Amino acid sequence: MKSFYITTAIDYVNGSPHLGHAYEKVLTDVIARFRRLMGDQVHFLTGTDEHGQKVQQSARKRGIPPQQLCDEVSAEFRALCAKLNISNDDFIRTTEERHKKVVRAVLQQLFDKGEIYKAEYRGFYSTRQEQFLQEKDRLPDGSWPEIYGEVTEIVEPNYFFKLRAYQDWLVEFLRGHENFIFPRYRQKQVLEFLKEPLNDLCISRPRERLEWGIPLPFDENYVTYVWFDALINYYSAVVDKPGIWPATFHVIGKDILMPPHAVYWPIMLHAAGLALPQGLLAHGWWMTSGAKMSKSTGNALNPLDLVDEFGVDAFRYFLIREMNVGQDSDFTREQFLARYNSDLANDLGNLINRTLNMTNRFGGAQVPAAEVAEEPEREVHALWDKTRDEALTLCEGFQFHAALERTFIFIKSINAYIEKRAPWKLGKSVEAADQALLRTSLATMAEALRLAAALLRAVMPATTDKINSVLGYTPGAVWREELNWGNRLVGAKVAESLVLFPRPAPTPPAVGNKPAGPKS
Ligand code: ME8
Ligand code: MG
Repeated sequence: MKSFYITTAIDYVNGSPHLGHAYEKVLTDVIARFRRLMGDQVHFLTGTDEHGQKVQQSARKRGIPPQQLCDEVSAEFRALCAKLNISNDDFIRTTEERHKKVVRAVLQQLFDKGEIYKAEYRGFYSTRQEQFLQEKDRLPDGSWPEIYGEVTEIVEPNYFFKLRAYQDWLVEFLRGHENFIFPRYRQKQVLEFLKEPLNDLCISRPRERLEWGIPLPFDENYVTYVWFDALINYYSAVVDKPGIWPATFHVIGKDILMPPHAVYWPIMLHAAGLALPQGLLAHGWWMTSGAKMSKSTGNALNPLDLVDEFGVDAFRYFLIREMNVGQDSDFTREQFLARYNSDLANDLGNLINRTLNMTNRFGGAQVPAAEVAEEPEREVHALWDKTRDEALTLCEGFQFHAALERTFIFIKSINAYIEKRAPWKLGKSVEAADQALLRTSLATMAEALRLAAALLRAVMPATTDKINSVLGYTPGAVWREELNWGNRLVGAKVAESLVLFPRPAPTPPAVGNKPAGPKS
């Protein structure tokens, strides 16, 4: 079986991780976990991008050697992955020898084939984006867009990779692979971009200007341009692991789709005679007050604070529920609290409480068998089948936010079912028919909770485990079968209680808005 090989972008180590990085890791993790549950052999790679001007500058500013900065910050990203319960199989650093040797080999191969030549470079460079700019990147008033930060002019002899020679090939390739880029409209933007002739790609920097990079194997006076180095991580990490290359999906932010991932990378692979990935998934940005959150602008939110405050699964849930993959989303604490309270503490939390509480009160802490299937039960069963089928299709198409929405509609409907059946009333009756209904309602809510938890598994794995545990249930090996309504809990011994999402204290008003009170 060909592996499902999925990667995140590798993060620059010029600053600490923020919400945008956390999102990309969680999104990729949800895809990886979903594919594993669906039976695929998944290989999941993430890591850090450690060379280049930006890292060299940050190290100078702190007065430490670049390698020390890389070691420190790379460790922070690794710790972030652990904290977010990311299931990556490998973590690559571009300063590792396993990576550098593959970069050198690819460069030497392209050089030997005549794909790389030396010429004078004259143009503009954005250190923040580690990108060579062109005249057409300017705004109508002649200035550079804010995202590029400080832009400097460069005039120096350099090495170039013959990108332009492959432009027609790339256009043909994209026309023949309509689903190469998700969302699809971004593929159209790339084709639009390719209507203009490409410039060859400058792939070196003289060592006297930039030391922190991989020396070119054919000219030690130069180091490799950081993007040429970084993109190869996806390949270098698996070069000696058979059956993994090519990648299935590269998950990246929209800012690094074009040109690095949609133009340079396919052409580099093709020129080197390597297979292309199946696709690129470009997600949108987390914003604060309308601006992209970023290390460089200092408006970033520390994801670890939210995890500490609300728990990892609430954080994962919020990111995936709130963001429609591909679009942007504003992050506010109010929105986070609203989701936390209404979906997790209220809808899911109530279903768990009621199920455990009533099974203890009216079922001797054991899940009974369902005995009747009247209208309310038939509705629940039908809604489950529909929810599951729709959610699976939505997940296959990266519409996780919508899959979660459907799952929570189901959870709400179980709470409504409980209201309708009112087991607390049935429990007071001695009628045999009422007792049968009581047992049926206990069985139905427990099974519905088990199923909802199973469907949440890729997004909230620890929560699913805890729910299974309090339901006295050990899931079987085949997830797809776990999603069938099956009265699997009959006879299971349930726990007394489980508080997964305690209600947070209401946020105090911002200090600035407080009326001045008497001094104590
Ligand atoms: O671009 N919202 O590294 P990086 C969502 N080293 N995603 C965001 C974001 C935000 N506010 N800010 C950043 C690089 N990201 C290169 C990648 S890959 C061979 C080399 C995403 O640390 C961003 O889009 O600037 C990118 O996918 C990832 O975080 C790393 O960004
Ligand atoms: Mg960036």
